Amino acid sequence: MPYLDNFDRPISYLRVSVTDRCNLRCIYCMPPEGIPWRLHREILRYEEIERVVRAAASLGISKVRLTGGEPLVRKGLVGLVSMIARIPGIDDLAMTTNGILLARYAEELKAAGLNRVNVSLDTLRPERFRRITRLGELSDTLEGIAAGKDAGLVPVKVNTVVIRGLNDDEVVDFARLTRAPDWHVRFIEVMPLGDNADWAGNGYVPMGEVRERIERELGELIPARLGGGGPARYYRLLGTQGTIGFITPISEHFCYQCNRLRLTADGKLRPCLLSDYEINLRTPLRQGATIEQIKCLIVEAVRAKPERHHLSEQVIPQGRTMSEIGG
Ligand code: 5AD
Ligand code: SF4
Repeated sequence: MPYLDNFDRPISYLRVSVTDRCNLRCIYCMPPEGIPWRLHREILRYEEIERVVRAAASLGISKVRLTGGEPLVRKGLVGLVSMIARIPGIDDLAMTTNGILLARYAEELKAAGLNRVNVSLDTLRPERFRRITRLGELSDTLEGIAAGKDAGLVPVKVNTVVIRGLNDDEVVDFARLTRAPDWHVRFIEVMPLGDNADWAGNGYVPMGEVRERIERELGELIPARLGGGGPARYYRLLGTQGTIGFITPISEHFCYQCNRLRLTADGKLRPCLLSDYEINLRTPLRQGATIEQIKCLIVEAVRAKPERHHLSEQVIPQGRTMSEIGG
């Protein structure tokens, strides 16, 4: 099997942002008024996304994750799922969603070939959920999570960005959820990106601190495993099956094992989340590039993948908000 490699990192995972639009306005992700949406013609059509994934799969990409914005706000998304699920070589197809629309689509997504979902959830308190997301109802996301499990989009992993003064007092409540079957919670250090940089800096909570708080209240964390191959380190509480994961982009960067490329909704290949360097695929796609030509551009993006991010030296990407890249 041919494979892409950079600094001894085999690149096997493509994250595809299908839209920059979102039905929420999470305060760490977007300004209150939102960001100006891109025009429809700027956004890759499903056929164009499929072509890129096909080219990537022939270079050894085997895992695809659909992200946004919020992927489920894009019309016809189930159709894209079935197009990608049919591509030879793609053996893991996942989605990251805020869960608001998941109850409506979970069954169809599963039938179309989606394997599993990650759901972003930063608080378990309804009032606070409204404050953080500015537009959302907690019950919708909780119903989405339940529907995801019922439909077999498992394991459903919950992503919780921990922010000081906002939700850091809930980490023990989240950890407690993992005592119930099928709950997998992953805590994430907030990253500065675009104009949230100041804000994210002040809200930063190192995962070591989260871990200590959980162990103090709930007892020892035992190393555990959960599939998916990402950067999270997993643990569980004594006697539980659910897991608690920690994702530490700031306190302990995991760039040395980064296996991913990103495709933005407007058709740019972004070798690193935390670097603004991008390669334009949309123009060549629309000028009739062959699969071989697209493959060459993917190889170029892999070559350009930086060895690591430089947040610790205050090099903060400014080009896009998180909602445009999809995490
Ligand atoms: N830092 C860390 N994680 C973030 N996410 C969004 N913005 C940030 C940020 N600044 C998370 C979302 C979602 C995932 C795709 O990225 O909550 O779970
Ligand atoms: Fe919130 Fe995700 Fe939407 Fe950003 S893209 S506003 S983090 S739900």
